[in-house]
Amino acid sequence: MKKIILTGDRPTGRLHIGHYVGSLRRRVQLQNEGGFDEIYIMIADAQALTDNFDNPDKVRANIVEVALDYLSAGLDPAKSNLFIQSQIPELTELSFYYMNLVTVARLQRNPTVKAEIQMRKFENSIPVGFFTYPISQASDITAFKATTVPVGEDQEPMIEQTREIVRKFNSIYGETLVEPEILLPENEASMRLPGTDGQAKMSKSLGNCIYLSDDEETVRKKVMSMFTDPGHLQVSDPGKVEGNTVFTYLDAFCTPEHFAAYLPDYADLEELKAHYRRGGLGDVKVKKFLNNVLQETLGPIRARRREFEKDIPYVYEVLQKGSEAAEAKAAQTLSEVKSAMRINYFDDRELIMQQQEAFANRAAQAQARENGRRRGKKK
Ligand code: TRP
Repeated sequence: MKKIILTGDRPTGRLHIGHYVGSLRRRVQLQNEGGFDEIYIMIADAQALTDNFDNPDKVRANIVEVALDYLSAGLDPAKSNLFIQSQIPELTELSFYYMNLVTVARLQRNPTVKAEIQMRKFENSIPVGFFTYPISQASDITAFKATTVPVGEDQEPMIEQTREIVRKFNSIYGETLVEPEILLPENEASMRLPGTDGQAKMSKSLGNCIYLSDDEETVRKKVMSMFTDPGHLQVSDPGKVEGNTVFTYLDAFCTPEHFAAYLPDYADLEELKAHYRRGGLGDVKVKKFLNNVLQETLGPIRARRREFEKDIPYVYEVLQKGSEAAEAKAAQTLSEVKSAMRINYFDDRELIMQQQEAFANRAAQAQARENGRRRGKKK
């Protein structure tokens, strides 16, 4: 069986470093290792509209931002299909059929959707489109026969829902769809990168994000004002590393090579943490180190972005070509789905001829009965 990746992001803002360690970094790595037969990276505008339907220009404006973030992070159109969800009508069609396989009660149990409904204060007026987006996400994944979906852990309920739909579909209509596996980030810090203020999540509305496209000075300022251990008042005080955002970011980003380059007094992060815990290590020194690490990671991304920004028509060309390739794949799957569901009328010659024969037989029998009756009357 082919190894296929599908994943994506809602275009509601520029991508930040939480997206980067949560999935983007891994996608680029998997792309470059070459172990997958096909890679599809989707800008999920239709899904973004499920809770931004009244703000289409926000979604529209962010298509190019997300595409620029993808390209500058190292996704290569020669190896990965970058495409826009709304341009693949097959995805919507699949969703309509999958809806038969999911109950309202099952959707209501989805913890991510539950949290989002609370956050958006939908209460009793949940838009149906939003409520059913996990089904549409199952279409996104299965349309490409994805085996692997690299995402953050908040997407786990969507992958589980997809797997259930696949099993149900295959058991009713015959083996057609592929059950995907989730691929989670490599460590705890990358899984749940907090905001720079220490809040559980990076979010634009909280203003606690470091964006991939932030300039050098902005990144430095954000790092220098980051939340650390509020009990660590003087350099000599022992400090806490757990829940200390600066150390969480180091967990997600730094490597022993970074120590050799910027902080050679320490062999690795464990030594640095031990010193912080003992006391005698100031926040400023750790923040400066983190700034160096982040600049080293983000510098090349930022530089590539500046280049791609000079040729926006090229960016749209990439998306258009990617969307064409994606649609070809989705159309193939939809055709298999429709055959399995017995709704492929016009390309089923056999069905048409069988029915023709059945009608002919019926007519012949009726004729025979009629003849018999006439002969009976004559007597
Ligand atoms: N739900 C994802 C997000 O919030 C975006 C998305 C839509 C997605 N369809 C997908 C991710 C399919 C992985 C696979 O960003």
